[in-house]
Amino acid sequence: MTTDTIFNITKTSSSRIENVDLDKPGFGREFADHMLEMEYRDGKWQQPEIKPYGPIEITPALNTLHYAQSVFEGTKAYYVDGESVNLFRPEKNYERMVRSCERMCIPTIDRDIFLEGIKELIRLDHQWVPEKEGNTLYIRPFACAFDPVISARVSDTYRFFIIMSPVGSYYDRPVKLTTTQQYVRAVKGGVGAAKTAGNYAASLYPAQQAKKDGFDQVLWLDAEEHKYVEEVGTMNIFFVIDGTLVTPNLRGTILPGVTRDSVVQLAKHWDMPVEERRISIDEVMEAGKKDTLDEVFGAGTAAVVAPVAEVHHNGQSVTFDIDGRGPVGQKFYDAITDIQRGQAEDPFGWVTSVEVE
Ligand code: COI
Repeated sequence: MTTDTIFNITKTSSSRIENVDLDKPGFGREFADHMLEMEYRDGKWQQPEIKPYGPIEITPALNTLHYAQSVFEGTKAYYVDGESVNLFRPEKNYERMVRSCERMCIPTIDRDIFLEGIKELIRLDHQWVPEKEGNTLYIRPFACAFDPVISARVSDTYRFFIIMSPVGSYYDRPVKLTTTQQYVRAVKGGVGAAKTAGNYAASLYPAQQAKKDGFDQVLWLDAEEHKYVEEVGTMNIFFVIDGTLVTPNLRGTILPGVTRDSVVQLAKHWDMPVEERRISIDEVMEAGKKDTLDEVFGAGTAAVVAPVAEVHHNGQSVTFDIDGRGPVGQKFYDAITDIQRGQAEDPFGWVTSVEVE
């Protein structure tokens, strides 16, 4: 089957690209010319449409707005040269979206629609992939319930969209993190491992409180004991303790990040000691006191590899006097972004190259 038969394509008659500064795009404020939309009704997904990006019509009773039966993904397209654009492990995003859909009772999307849909959009909008180092085209596939009904039940209708936004860095300086004893992000048996809207909504109030105290984000602890580190919400977390890379193991409450997995695989490839295990905040603070905490960084699609300048817990802080990434974080950042931009070998087969005119 050709992509013309999979997708019903309507091209825009007037591109908006001239109005956008791809060197300074911010994050998620501008959107590429085309989007994909697919409707689920009568028990099946209908033919997907690729069409000009624009508003959609919804009713105030749309159940997604009330009960958040919705999931999303984040992946990126990377400038290589005028002839091709790279995608990075988009099949991992597809697999996670399937798991998120299952958890949120949303009918799963066909693999080809997800992956070919991204490629077709890139072929149409490749001029939107920023050339400048560090800038990328962020791709946001998402699916949500679409019944115009305000009863709290599984929807009968859904929409799947893919939209794309040129982006710069998510964090423009090293981040300051604080734990909280009052709030939790996810509980065992909950939806912490799903990329679903409610996880992000629930984190906003605690993050706002943290900001009032001078921090950028919350470093979440486990819900049962408030003892073990989980993640940051916008990214997974890594500690370098005495040369060993330590990150919390996935236990159903943490988002299984694609960048997280890439960092772990690279560390193993380099024979760097790496441990995926439960790590208590006391161990982190103790390592900070003993000066064996070499570095802390976050990893995520939006954040890439983001340095942490401070970890605050119970009135005490471990700080790093840094302007940018430490040597370990920088090594991962360089390796990952070089593979993404086709500037280094790709021993893991992570890159999908999309030919563009
Ligand atoms: C991503 O890294 O892709 C995310 O979805 C995080 C979000 C806070 C932008």
